[in-house]
Amino acid sequence: MAVAQQAPINFAVMYATHDAFRRDLERLAAAVAAGRAGTPQVRAGWENFKRQLHVHHTVEDAVLWPRLAQQVTDRPDDQKLLAEMEAEHAQLDAVLAAVDAGLSQASADLGERVDRLAQSLGSHMRHEENAALPLIQDVLTHKDWDAFRSAMAKKQGPKGAAVYIPWVMDGRDVAERKRFLECMPAPVKVLNKLFWESSYQKRGLFSA
Ligand SMILES: [Fe+2]
Repeated sequence: MAVAQQAPINFAVMYATHDAFRRDLERLAAAVAAGRAGTPQVRAGWENFKRQLHVHHTVEDAVLWPRLAQQVTDRPDDQKLLAEMEAEHAQLDAVLAAVDAGLSQASADLGERVDRLAQSLGSHMRHEENAALPLIQDVLTHKDWDAFRSAMAKKQGPKGAAVYIPWVMDGRDVAERKRFLECMPAPVKVLNKLFWESSYQKRGLFSA
């Protein structure tokens, strides 16, 4: 059942989060190419990347896809799309594990393993952006979308938010940062400015 001509849902946070995953994998690939894969900053960047991806996919699987599924019981093509979203998440586990193993064993093919991850995750996120987000706009309400965002915030928790917010904005230009922060509650903006951003920057994730 489609939601009748509602105002566009703001997907800025979803796009910004996906872009942060893309940016991290570019940084990881550059670090591997430069022979820096074993540094504490690269390891810490990789651990954070995995955690952010785990949170993102867990909440999509637990909250977003099931909520969408309830709305498309009479639409087989859309049901198939949701099954693909879950399957693509599951398929990433092996590709992530290959990078993990490659990092700990300093494998000669680590660069190829990172490329494989960037390709798999990149094509999954494109699929989600091109097909699942339009479906969300079509059948979910603003209230549904807010419930998904609340579930994401709950899963992160206050400690998680202190990293997630500056992590998404890392390397973004002023306009992109503004677009993302506009979607956040006022206390988040204040805490980020006063504490989170500087603590995050000090960690120098993926830096040389
Ligand atoms: Fe996503």
